[in-house]
Amino acid sequence: MSENGASLKPIHISHVSFGSEEEAMVLAVLRSGHIAQGPMVERFEGLCAAMAGTRYAVAVANGTVALEAALEACGAGPGDEVITSPFTFAATLNAILRCGAVARFADVAADCTLDPASAESLITPKTVAVMPVHLYGLMAAMPAFEAMARRHSLALVEDAAQAHGATCEGRRAGSCGIGAFSFYATKNVTSGEGGCVTTDDAAKADLIRVLRNQGMRARYEYVMIGQNWRMTDITAALAVPQLRRLDELLAARRRNAAVLTRLLADMPELVTPVTPPGREHAWHQYTVLLPDGADRAAVLDAMARREVHCGVYYPALVWDHDAYRHHPGVVAGETPVAAAMASRCLSLPVHPALTDSDLERVAAALREALHAQPRRTQPANAPTA
Ligand SMILES: Cc1ncc(COP(=O)(O)O)c(C=O)c1O
Repeated sequence: MSENGASLKPIHISHVSFGSEEEAMVLAVLRSGHIAQGPMVERFEGLCAAMAGTRYAVAVANGTVALEAALEACGAGPGDEVITSPFTFAATLNAILRCGAVARFADVAADCTLDPASAESLITPKTVAVMPVHLYGLMAAMPAFEAMARRHSLALVEDAAQAHGATCEGRRAGSCGIGAFSFYATKNVTSGEGGCVTTDDAAKADLIRVLRNQGMRARYEYVMIGQNWRMTDITAALAVPQLRRLDELLAARRRNAAVLTRLLADMPELVTPVTPPGREHAWHQYTVLLPDGADRAAVLDAMARREVHCGVYYPALVWDHDAYRHHPGVVAGETPVAAAMASRCLSLPVHPALTDSDLERVAAALREALHAQPRRTQPANAPTA
């Protein structure tokens, strides 16, 4: 309902849409009688390898265990340190802590992704890996991270959970280091729950295949302490048609992002997202920074009253929660750019199902919500400090 009582179609931050292809694929799996990990998972893995441009992709149960498997394949464990972004989802940190390693947090750059210089300043003799997060679907500055990993003999783990099909200098997300993707319900490609690890390294792919299957190399031949991290053929069947249509899905998100940027151009008080040269964004989220001091909760409420439902990813630095603040595996540092972003970020709907008039409603709702805020005198302050 709108404020004047008229019925408005709700615009959500994400949208799940399955068609006849997905239905047919799932039905085929159900009728095959093979519902656990089987031939459909193999098909899914082939498409994931094509998406990342890697030799191997290993399907797992979700993106969190994809990160944990990637870290474990790189040898991260107790006594080791991993450098990552504080402006991310809890899964990034949980994966590091589940491996028994210590997490150190570098600041982010103005594009919201891990700042290579800040990350390099945190390297110690205990550092084994650096883990940039391709936040919102934008790859981090990977050439700098690749050079840093070579210089210091570190593993490079990409948290590509949000970045299916994104590129940086012609390289695809998940191909610069070892990649971890999520196929959770809200992701650009989804199987409800699901994940995969991408790599060119045959030994790492092999280790993860054994790890995900109770440590078995062959039936009842246990070679390590394993997990059950397998994906099912039913869930893989949901993602296969979307992976085949990935270019089309990405094009729709890119178009919607361009429309939003044009519609918001007359609001200089906002910082709209900019794609650095050489990168192609996957637009998992279209995230603006509200004016410093704006009442974000009031903006969200005002937009929701117009049936435009936005998101806040993420309202606090990842370690700044009770579970982590005093955890021995968490070394928090000063990250002022990330802190400013966490307090000002607001993600607007950008998914492929949106029409031009939906996007106009999103921009209009944001404009009205901001105009309802107490007047500000300071200009927009890009978080480049
Ligand atoms: C940045 C980031 N890393 C990791 C994950 C974990 O993925 P999943 O939810 O599939 O475990 C997510 C997904 O929510 C994410 O956004």
